[in-house]
Amino acid sequence: MKQATTVRVLFVCLGNICRSPTAEAVFRRDVERAGLARAFEIDSAGTTALHAGELAHHDTRACAARRGVAITHRARRFVREDLARFDHVLAMDHENLRAILLHAVDDAARAKVKMFRALEHDAPPDAEVPDPYYSGRFDHVFEICERASAALLAHLRERHGI
Ligand code: 4NP
Repeated sequence: MKQATTVRVLFVCLGNICRSPTAEAVFRRDVERAGLARAFEIDSAGTTALHAGELAHHDTRACAARRGVAITHRARRFVREDLARFDHVLAMDHENLRAILLHAVDDAARAKVKMFRALEHDAPPDAEVPDPYYSGRFDHVFEICERASAALLAHLRERHGI
C-alpha cells in the first residue's frame, strides 16, 4: 500500500496577524479545493511575539471573509523547532527570511526556507508580500497571497508527487 504523504508548510511574517495568517488560510482553501487536505499540514507564525495569542487583525479577517475565507488562527511566535517540524517555511519578506535563518542550524534547515513569492509567475525576483499593518492595503495582500498560493501548490504537487 502506498504510504500517505504529509507535506508540512509554515507561513511566517512579523506579527502573525496580517500576512502569514492570510497566506495560511488561502493556501488551505486551495489545498481543500484540490481535494488534498489530508496530504498537508498548514500553519503560520510570526518572528515576534508582539501579538501572540491574538486573532488576526480585524481588517485581515474582514478582507478574507468578503472572499469567503475564514481566518481563525491565533498568533504564535516562530520557534526553532518549527524548522524541524515543517518541510517548507515560507517568508513574507526579506526581514522575516533573515530572522528565520538565524534559527537554522544546518544546510537541511536552511534549504526549507524560501520567499513565499519566489515561485509566483511574473513576480519580480525576490518579490515580497508588503506589510499592510501601516499601509492599510489588506486587499492587495490578499490578492498577492492568492497568486503566490496557487504557484506554491502547483510546485509542491509536482515536487512531492501529489
Ligand atoms: P504581519 O503585520 O507581520 O503581516 O502580521 C504586522 C503586524 C504587526 C506589526 C507589524 C506588522 N506590529 O508592528 O505590531
